[in-house]
Order: sequence, then structure tokens, then C-alpha cells
Amino acid sequence: MEKIFKRTTVTTALPYANGPVHIGHLAGVYVPADIYVRYLRLKKRDVLFIGGSDEHGVPITIKAKKEGVTPQDIVDRYHTIIKKSFEDLGVSFDIYSRTTSKTHYEQASEMFKTIYNKGGFIEKTSEQYYDEEAQTFLADRYITGTCPHCNSEGAYGDQCEHCGTSLNPTDLINPKSAISGSAPVMKETKHWFLPLDKHEEWLRQWILEEHKEWKTNVYGQCKSWLDMGLQPRAVSRDLDWGIPVPIEGAEGKVLYVWFDAPIGYISNTKELLPDSWEKWWKDEDTRLIHFIGKDNIVFHCIVFPAMLKAEGSFILPDNVPANEFLNLEGDKISTSRNWAVWLHEYLIDFPGKQDVLRYVLTANAPETKDNDFTWKDFQARNNNELVAIFGNFVNRALVLTQKYFDGKVPETKGLAEVDTDVFAQIVALKDKIEENLENFRFRDALKEAMNVARIGNKYLADMEPWKLAKSDMDRVATILNISLQIAANLTIAFEPFLPFSTDRLCKMMNLDKQEWESFGSSLLLTAGHQLGTPELLFEKIEDAVVEAQVQKLLDTKKANQLAAWKPNDIKPEITFDAFEKLDIRVGTVKECTKVPKADKLLCFKIDDGSGTDRTIVSGIAAHYSPEELTGKQVCFIANLAPRKLKGIESQGMILSAESSDGALKVITPSGIVTPGSEVK
Ligand code: MF3
Ligand code: ZN
Repeated sequence: MEKIFKRTTVTTALPYANGPVHIGHLAGVYVPADIYVRYLRLKKRDVLFIGGSDEHGVPITIKAKKEGVTPQDIVDRYHTIIKKSFEDLGVSFDIYSRTTSKTHYEQASEMFKTIYNKGGFIEKTSEQYYDEEAQTFLADRYITGTCPHCNSEGAYGDQCEHCGTSLNPTDLINPKSAISGSAPVMKETKHWFLPLDKHEEWLRQWILEEHKEWKTNVYGQCKSWLDMGLQPRAVSRDLDWGIPVPIEGAEGKVLYVWFDAPIGYISNTKELLPDSWEKWWKDEDTRLIHFIGKDNIVFHCIVFPAMLKAEGSFILPDNVPANEFLNLEGDKISTSRNWAVWLHEYLIDFPGKQDVLRYVLTANAPETKDNDFTWKDFQARNNNELVAIFGNFVNRALVLTQKYFDGKVPETKGLAEVDTDVFAQIVALKDKIEENLENFRFRDALKEAMNVARIGNKYLADMEPWKLAKSDMDRVATILNISLQIAANLTIAFEPFLPFSTDRLCKMMNLDKQEWESFGSSLLLTAGHQLGTPELLFEKIEDAVVEAQVQKLLDTKKANQLAAWKPNDIKPEITFDAFEKLDIRVGTVKECTKVPKADKLLCFKIDDGSGTDRTIVSGIAAHYSPEELTGKQVCFIANLAPRKLKGIESQGMILSAESSDGALKVITPSGIVTPGSEVK
């Protein structure tokens, strides 16, 4: 017999606060979770919807270092953007908090200590790369070197981004620390491990036997992990960003981000409900559902359950409806390549069109396989479905009622078979929608909801009440009553999917929000009820609008191809002393000539303030004509060892910036200065 649950705790993967949220996150996790939660609320079921930002981990420290700010600055920035954009899209979290909160530090530490005291971890000492100059252990991402597979430079200690191979730091040829640039050495370090091998047996039983109903992609991934055999997993790291390992002898060590982050679900519940959070996490009558993307499956189906089990007082997830990935215009979405449609940008570019995005992402949700988002499809779904079916139907029903009955719901005057038939169809759809929603098949559920509008649209088109207005007003009254009842049903059917539009439709009909159980009723509006003012529920999206979005992506693609700079190209850190060794000065170009037989070179005579002209040869002839630079002030390195170019001794180097399209622009002070002035 199926178990009856009293309440449902719904969590969504905590996005890393090192970048904004894009359509891939939305389609995979947040839109389906929000649909599910809104549906449960409409069903008057007890539900809690938990979200938050994941604010630890190495990538955040790398981004901070690159920008010269603190990790806290980074997570503050993105947490704010992410939280606001979720709110604006109508993702209806009961709480959206963060893993740098005080409650979370306490909760994660407590969880670690409980498991530790129960003997749930093993301690292991192993050798890891250590940067002697910076006196710190190196996270995998902080070690770069040559990829042993494709020989490309700049591969990371965990992966080569060039050929995609997963690596161990020790696989790298000529490893270098990304912090100091020095060659790292091996050094012993102690860490705590969750012995997943000891959890394997019950995990096998629990997932493979007791949760055969999980989505096939989820079940399949779990099975292959389990069949490979589980290994102990480190739950601590040598890092200075994170939650300190809360035991003695663990100085300088923090909890691994994948240990603390899922505990964030619990912490955030506790922050919201300090007195009653436990029933949402410890009561057997509570159903726990994790919405995640496919890259998170092992953590939510194996690692986190093992943590919960080791702690001992928590329930385990009942389902983990993970989705596959959404691609964008045929290419993998990528934050680092800026190949994405960012939610906060969409909300600016398409004001008031939250529901269009929600609709398209649901209709195309990557539920069973990877899917593709294209702007053409976005436009087509809006124009051919939202506008032409849903919008068109409700608009005709409302406008005709306005015209023939002054906007008052007419009374039915006898029902024909077509009329009762229409409602029977809608009741059947209600069952299908429910069945799909309960089983996390949101695209199918949306399709059936659209069928409610399709039925209404077809009914009006077949009945042609406008042709009967002269001959049979009784029939017109019945047809419009039925049409309006269908429109009222649409406010329920679409509430989980398109909450902004159902709000507007309710206003247009002067109707209160209905609960799910009223879905299918032909008596949602009483005769004589005064409707509000009809407006267009959806508007057409013109070609130019989507073309502009496509152009934006093409520009990104172009910039990516030209971009000379990748984060791992940044040179190793230097000290201030090293910087001070450079003598950079400003000089005035007195003379500039082409160097014979060298099409790239220009020869400069520069007034460097010393009284004697300085000669510098520079390879910028393709970018400047000699006249352009004569009389200009430029910056040059004054203490570079002289070298001969085409027989001319060059006494320094003129500084210029290389633009992403390859153009060189000389660096020049923003105002005139005395020749010889130092740049510092
Ligand atoms: N930040 C992770 C990601 O984006 C997800 C963390 S989910 C949690 O892949 F369970 F750890 F919170
Ligand atoms: Zn490689």
C-alpha cells in the first residue's frame, strides 16, 4: 500500500554563488520545483519550499583572487543577484538563505560532531601537493600543468578543460602552483572520510529495491555507482574558505563544500522555523523531495543519505527527480564562456514576460534527455501557443461577453450535448494533469493544461456564437457561460505553471483564486457575475526581438573565439618588490619612422626627459601609421635590457594593450606629463 504522507519538504539544489542563474538551472531545477510546490499548495497539502545559495568551495576563492576581492564579497554579490532574480521569476521559496549564515555554521558543525562522536568517519593521512612558498596545501584547481592526454598547457589538477579528461593532480606534467607559480611538493596531511563502502549494503537495498519508481536516469546513475563499488570520500579540505572542521587538531581545515552544502537545506529550514523545523526533517510522515540537475545525483542519492543515516535522526529522501541538461542553440551552456541566457538579463529584456520563460522552459524541460533552447522556439511557443490558443480563447470569451451581455456572466439556457461533453473532457484532463504532476512529468502536465485551452478555443470556434447573435440569444448565453467557465478553469490549471498570467486572468474575470479541487467545475462563475476589463493576456513576440537575442549570442561566440585571455592564463602572483623592479616611464614621441624591410616595426625617437633621445623599436606598424604617434606621449619600460632589432638597438619597450579582436592600442597618460615621469 502506498504510504500517506502528512507533509512534503521540497528542496532545490543550492546554486553556487559565484555567478548568476541561467536558463539551464531554471529548466533543470527551479521551474519544475516551483510548479510542484504551487500545485501542492493548491491541493492544500502541507509543503515547505527550501532554497539558498551555496557559498563555499574553491571556485569562489579563485574568482575572488582573480578580482582582488574577498570570497565574502563574491558571494554577497551573487547571492543578492540570484535571490532577487528568483523572486522576480515567481519562484516561491518559503526561504532563500545562504550557507554563510550563522545558523548554517552551527548546523553543519553540529552535524559533523555528531557523526564524528558516533565514530562515523575514518581518519586518513595522505600526501598532497603543498606550495612551500605560499605555505599552503593546494586544492586541485590551484594546480596547473601539462595534460598527460592531450599535452595542452594549463590543465587543472582535477580536469583538463581542453580535452575534458578528469585528472588527479599527480597526473599533471610539470605541475605548478597557481598561487605562487612554484613547483609544489608532496606533503602529508590528515583528513576525515565518510566510509561510503560501509554504507553500500543498505544503500543498495534502499535505492535499487525500494525505489524502483525513481526516474530511470536517476536510478540508472545510482546503480552504476553502486555497481562500481563505493569508496570512502573526504569530507574535509585544506583551505581557508569554509566552515572550520569543529574538532581539535584540525586547524586550517574546513568542511568540504559538498559536505556542508546539503546540510544547508536543514539549516535554512531551521532559520525559517526555529521551533518546528524538526518535523520537516525527522518525522516519518514527512516526504523529502530533492530537485536537482543530473550532475548532483550521486551527492543527493548516495552521499547525503549516507550522512543523514550516519547522523541517525533524519529521514531520507523519498524521491530525487533529477533532470538532464538544457543546451542553448545547440551548444552546452557555459558560465565561463558566457554561453547562457542569464535570468537577471532576461527579466530586464522581457519585462512582464516571466511566464513566457516559465512556459517555454517547462514545455522543453530536459526531463528524460538533454534538450535544446532556441530563441526561434521561444518565439514560436509564445506566438502559436500562449497567444494563439490560451490568450486568444480567453480574450474572445471576455470580449464577446462584454459585447452581448455588458460583461456580466449570462445564465445558461439549456445544455446541448456538446456543452456537457466539453466539461467531461476537461474533467478527464484534470486527472491527467494531476497524475503527471504527482510523477514529476511537468512537460506532459503542461501539455494537458494547454489542452484545456485548446478545447475552449475549439468549442468557441465550432459554436460561432457571433453568428447566432441575431437569431438565438439563448444559445449565445449558454455558449458564453460555458466558455467563461472554461476560462475560469484555466486560472486553476495554469496556476502552478504561469502564476503571473493566472493572477491577471483572475483580475480580468473579477474572480478569486480557486483551489485545485474546484478544477473541472462548470459552476465557478455564477450568472450575473460582473467581469472585469478584458486585456490581452499574452502578446506576440516580433522577429526583431528574438533576432536581437540571437545577435547577442553570436557576439558572444565571436568574442569567445577571439578572447586571448582565460582565467588560468593569469601569470603567477608576484610580490610588490618584484613589481618595483620594473621602471616604467612616460616619454614624448619626437620622431617615428618605418623600419625598412620589416613591415611590423616602427622606430621611435623618444624624449625621455634625460636630455638624450631614446631609441625604441616596437612591433606595432600594423596598427599605427608613424604620423599618428608623432607628438603623442607613450609609456615604456626604461630598464629593459637593450636588444637589437633589424640592426637597431632598442632601448626599452613601448606598452600597449591587445584588444580581443587583436588590435593593439598604445598606453598613453590621460593628461600631458613631464617627459621621464615615472609610472607607479
Ligand atoms: N552548488 C551545487 C551545484 O551547483 C549544488 C549544491 S546542492 C546541495 O552543483 F545539496 F549541496 F546544496
Ligand atoms: Zn587534455
